[in-house]
Amino acid sequence: MKKEVNNKNNLMDKIISLCKRRGFVFAGSEIYGGLANSWDYGPLGVELKNNIKQLWWKQFVQMRDDVVGIDAALIMNPKVWESSGHISTFSDPLIECKKCKKRFRADQIDLKNCPECKGELGESRQFNLMLKTFLGPIEDKDSIVYFRPETAQAMFVDFKNVLETSRKKLPFGIAQIGKAFRNEITPGNFIFRTREFEQMEIEYFIKEENWQEVFKHWQKEMQSWMIDVLGLKQGSIHELDVPSSELAHYSKKTIDFEYDFPFGKKELYGLAYRTDFDLRNHFKDEVPYKEEGVEPFYPHVIEPTFGVDRSVLAVLCGAYQEEDERIVLKLKPQLAPYKVAVFPLLKNKPELVAKAKEVYDNLKKDFMVAFDDRGNIGKRYYSQDEIGTPYCVTVDFDTLENNEVTVRDRDTTQQEKIKVSELNNYIKEKIYGN
Ligand code: GAP
Repeated sequence: MKKEVNNKNNLMDKIISLCKRRGFVFAGSEIYGGLANSWDYGPLGVELKNNIKQLWWKQFVQMRDDVVGIDAALIMNPKVWESSGHISTFSDPLIECKKCKKRFRADQIDLKNCPECKGELGESRQFNLMLKTFLGPIEDKDSIVYFRPETAQAMFVDFKNVLETSRKKLPFGIAQIGKAFRNEITPGNFIFRTREFEQMEIEYFIKEENWQEVFKHWQKEMQSWMIDVLGLKQGSIHELDVPSSELAHYSKKTIDFEYDFPFGKKELYGLAYRTDFDLRNHFKDEVPYKEEGVEPFYPHVIEPTFGVDRSVLAVLCGAYQEEDERIVLKLKPQLAPYKVAVFPLLKNKPELVAKAKEVYDNLKKDFMVAFDDRGNIGKRYYSQDEIGTPYCVTVDFDTLENNEVTVRDRDTTQQEKIKVSELNNYIKEKIYGN
């Protein structure tokens, strides 16, 4: 057993530094001094994020008969946000320091004075989080539009179109993955709270009488996603039954799934019973759901919602380990940016390099593969451990003789000899179990 020397000291700093050093996440617009907590996903970060999104889509849309997907416009008719209640109620309490003029969320500070300069704080007022812009060449009040603050509303607005084209009957869901924008008062904690982020949401339409049963179903689905797919530790996840005084304007019951981030226990995902609030508000003139033998009615909604960026952050925090000599990201293999890395033992032996390239090209048909011929093998292993590559394959002089390579496992560091002809299946079996 390797001694784990992981500790929570400066864990966020270490993760942010690893993300930058290895190309997971960079500060957005960095060469211009950045922009208010915006972040760009680099070559490895985009792979990790895409893997999460693809696994989610597969599990919750493609593998199910009762959920279909959409990909709607980011900017919707402003009437959508009037009907949804966002224009009137989607706000946070804002408080400003009279001295340094810094702004804070009043519900996030329980001090009488400014946490920055100790100056006197002003009165709290509501600040709407909708991000505005103008559509078209004229910048007047009639051309004001909003970037969507959640993906959810398109699933309600498109409800009838989806129903008619997919011929689904209750219960069924509509899913979407996409960007959302909120003019957050205090973005922060790296990619945890930003003004531009991604969501993966399902609006699951039901008959009212079934809401508790369906709520439990999605609660289990979300637990299984976090533990079995993302590999988060059960003990790091907590469920908060949101008190009725703090429920969003549309919700009758919400559970927040909280995760033990290095900066504290914070919301990762949510599960809400939205009643028929949304469909009732969008379809005022026509009840949108009909079934034979009953009067048309408004379906009720259970909404499991998942933040993509918070998923990435939780996965990185959970996977980061410091051992005696190495930093290792113990990512679930399905999430890892590279599934396998190939090394020729020596860079200056053309026959080894040629054979390694052949192995690399063959693996590339099935996986994301890295190739590295720099430095010594030990350094190359550590370099791949740091980005979570589950398997490293070394081509040495024996390979030229017997067509066997050495496969080294990231977590155990054990090595095994495998025939080149069996390599792709071996890795596939290890990663996907088939
Ligand atoms: N449609 C329901 C809804 O949007 P929410 O709790 O406001 O509910 C859902 O947001 C999820 O979106 C959160 O649980 C979180 O994962 C993510 N999220 C919300 N605001 C965010 C922000 N400013 N930055 C990053 N992720 C955010």
